[in-house]
Amino acid sequence: MKVITTINELQQELEKHRVLNKKIALVPTMGYLHEGHMTLAKAARQENDLVVMSDFVNPTQFGPNEDFESYPRDLDRDEKIATEVGVDYLFAPTVDEMYPDDGGIRIEAGPASKILCGATRPGHFNGVLQVVSKLFHIVQPTNAYFGQKDAQQLALIQLMVRDYNFPVTICSVPIVREEDGLAKSSRNVFLTDAEREQAPVIQQALQQAKADFLKHHDKEQAIQIAITMIENQTSGHVDYLELRSYPNLQEIHPETNQFLLATAVYFSNVRLIDNILFSNEEIR
Ligand code: PAF
Repeated sequence: MKVITTINELQQELEKHRVLNKKIALVPTMGYLHEGHMTLAKAARQENDLVVMSDFVNPTQFGPNEDFESYPRDLDRDEKIATEVGVDYLFAPTVDEMYPDDGGIRIEAGPASKILCGATRPGHFNGVLQVVSKLFHIVQPTNAYFGQKDAQQLALIQLMVRDYNFPVTICSVPIVREEDGLAKSSRNVFLTDAEREQAPVIQQALQQAKADFLKHHDKEQAIQIAITMIENQTSGHVDYLELRSYPNLQEIHPETNQFLLATAVYFSNVRLIDNILFSNEEIR
């Protein structure tokens, strides 16, 4: 595996493969790799000839009071993990390499970026789409891999690709879960023992809400069931729990056929997210 820090060098390397018609995968990350990233890279490895992983803590997706400076970074560790999972090129540019001047061009992610997680992180998804579109142009991948855990991010990237005709296929990889159903996250280690024991209720509550919605088609009732379950059976506090159309993330209506049931729950200062994507095929 080769670590590359400049756009020019990466593009020259990739050109050698592109002329041979190789299938190129992109796995965008902010580094400090964990199991979720490894699952994405393994899927990319299986389905492509060449795997490029980006390792870049993108400043434009952090708000002024967010943890850009203290975000964990460890390139040596990332190199080892990326090598193990079969990455060919680890692209780790500096901030200056990606944003040489503040040229003023911004991406406006639109209404679907201002709800769910976006409601408390203004501008976050504009920054995500900015860096992802740059990476798409730099790497020109055949396939790009994103996790379903960040369902709103995935939806917005799918909308950007659809609306702006990016020639890339977005491959989404299901949420990796602990045995008891809790979605894996690097934040789980910050839960107390009691919170860790309660946290699987999040997924159980979403499943319960989904089952109720498929039976009664009553969105408010389904949501209330899940919120009550989480707040009665855990010490967690629900930040949001919503049922939306997917990928547009609009209010649902009788013709909606893809649904996202998503939540964010605070346990003390630890914010956990989880979701279920389902279709109305299951309603029939
Ligand atoms: O999901 C992430 O880690 C980041 O938002 C991404 C897609 C790598 C863009 O910086």
